[in-house]
Amino acid sequence: MNKTIYFIANWKMNGNHNSINEIERVLNFFKKNTIYKFKKIIFCPPSNLLTSFRIKIKSKLIDFGAQDISKINVNNGPYTGQLSAKMLKDSGANYVIIGHSEKRLIDEDFKTIKEKINISLKNKLKIIFCIGENLSQKNKGSSLNVLKKQILSSLDVNKINFNNLIIAYEPIWSIGTGIVPTNNYLDKIYRNLKKFFKEKYKVNSPIMLYGGSVTTDNVATLGKIGLISGFLIGGASLKSTSFIKIIKNYFK
Ligand code: 13P
Repeated sequence: MNKTIYFIANWKMNGNHNSINEIERVLNFFKKNTIYKFKKIIFCPPSNLLTSFRIKIKSKLIDFGAQDISKINVNNGPYTGQLSAKMLKDSGANYVIIGHSEKRLIDEDFKTIKEKINISLKNKLKIIFCIGENLSQKNKGSSLNVLKKQILSSLDVNKINFNNLIIAYEPIWSIGTGIVPTNNYLDKIYRNLKKFFKEKYKVNSPIMLYGGSVTTDNVATLGKIGLISGFLIGGASLKSTSFIKIIKNYFK
């Protein structure tokens, strides 16, 4: 069976109105190259660009997501600086990234992450839920325990619909550093996560991605890990040339 491979572009705090050109190039590539059937492309630009991008890129070939959502569980109201689930959906997002380590570093704890996940699920936004250990946790050999704790504090055992949830394992020590875990390391992580999800959440095949310094050069090697269903890509997703090449190299 051919499974869908996700290529999710997390633009973080990058991009401007001209960046639509990068997405258009990606779209044109896939219009011309129809052999790439089993893939899902999702762009997560900063929220200020979502509406205009979504209006211009009306194609089933590319989907959009936001990088954050308010934890306040109402559609509208006196909450300065907040964007509700309804607003995100109105602006064209079908997905939302929650729990990214860069956001956690600024102001997000796991109680908040859980609230945001539940609000998103209720509002039928699909979630890209990020987990990952830092370098000192890795060096202590506690990566798996850290990941399990992050999952248990974020996902309510009886509430989660795994059809609407993508798990992105992003080791913090790999994000933006050019350092990528070995396939042995990753194999062990994903095998254990799969087992854990089955035991705790009764789900057989959760969608699990890898994120952290994914490039045109390492994607083919990372792609050999059987249990992953794609990638959450930061820096290398900003330019259409490298983003397209990542996808081409994966399927080569
Ligand atoms: P880089 O690909 O730039 O390392 O970023 C990964 C990431 O944080 C994606 O969410």
